[in-house]
Amino acid sequence: MDTITLIQPDDWHLHLRDNQALKTTVPAATRSFGRGIIMPNLTPPVTDVKKASAYRERILAQRPKGSNWQPLMVLYLTDNTSPADIIAAADSGFIYGCKYYPAGATTNSASGVTNLDNMHAVFEAMQEVGMILQMHGEVTAPDIDIFDREAVFIERHLRPLVAQFPKLKIVMEHITTKQGADFVLSAGDNIAASITPQHLLHNRNDMLVGGIRPHLFCLPILKRNIHQQALINIATSGSHKVFLGTDSAPHTQGAKESACGCAGCFSHHAAIELYAEVFDQANALDKLEAFASTNGPNFYGLPHNQVSIELKKQAWQLPDSLPFEDTQVIPLGAGTTLNWKLVE
Ligand code: DOR
Ligand code: ZN
Repeated sequence: MDTITLIQPDDWHLHLRDNQALKTTVPAATRSFGRGIIMPNLTPPVTDVKKASAYRERILAQRPKGSNWQPLMVLYLTDNTSPADIIAAADSGFIYGCKYYPAGATTNSASGVTNLDNMHAVFEAMQEVGMILQMHGEVTAPDIDIFDREAVFIERHLRPLVAQFPKLKIVMEHITTKQGADFVLSAGDNIAASITPQHLLHNRNDMLVGGIRPHLFCLPILKRNIHQQALINIATSGSHKVFLGTDSAPHTQGAKESACGCAGCFSHHAAIELYAEVFDQANALDKLEAFASTNGPNFYGLPHNQVSIELKKQAWQLPDSLPFEDTQVIPLGAGTTLNWKLVE
């Protein structure tokens, strides 16, 4: 098999940043995808319909001519989000979810939710109007080891939440553990998960053995190889409960290669090809379309894209760096060779 044709995929989790960064991130996001779920962790965050509308306009202004790519906007939940904000978001027609960041869990999450228990009226409203909850599923308690944050979150918070709001649609964003994969598989059809290319391609040894590789540092952090294997298994299984979400999150080279480096991997230079590599290695290229192109829209209640894309078997080398803002970003897989390439 030398070519693969796929219904055009979508990215159900990405960070475009703002202003000058959009000149790089928006064209990259449109490269292979039809739609993108746009994370709202700007400074200040996208907390209401008005901010989401203005951000959407700034994004669309950078969309390449002729592109039909659509930004699907998301509200950032805070301690001050009200049920009225949820209803306004649902009525907007361009907001497709609300993002829960535990305060302090990751980049620009300082305004996130400090206590899930205070969000009941908001979750009630979301359940009522069918608004999807996008969950950054990690605890931030200082006594919990960073490698255990996701597994503890599932037991401490997610199971009780799902029991309390049995119809609330939740995406466990970027799952990174066997516990995450098992939880999603065992839950009802209102629960799904996205998976990033870095968590499928790497484990923590790749980040830490032989020297620290800051460009592989992301949150939730890469886990040990048994978790990587569990993610590969669920992604390539054909299960309808998991779909593509790159979490492409650019930071400048300087912000990554620092005494206190930022979390995030930029992958939109080669996103679909990075996933194709994983599916090829697992002998599961026939399952790539479900993961990349149909499971996501089915969960979000949206139509599949009408056009298709083609990948061809062709060795090509990823760039060592890419221009970003006034400097550069080191992309995921920089300098390595991939075996599948998008026909552009
Ligand atoms: O690695 C990450 N980077 N994880 C997140 O949750 C946020 C993201 C970012 O915004 O840089
Ligand atoms: Zn993210």
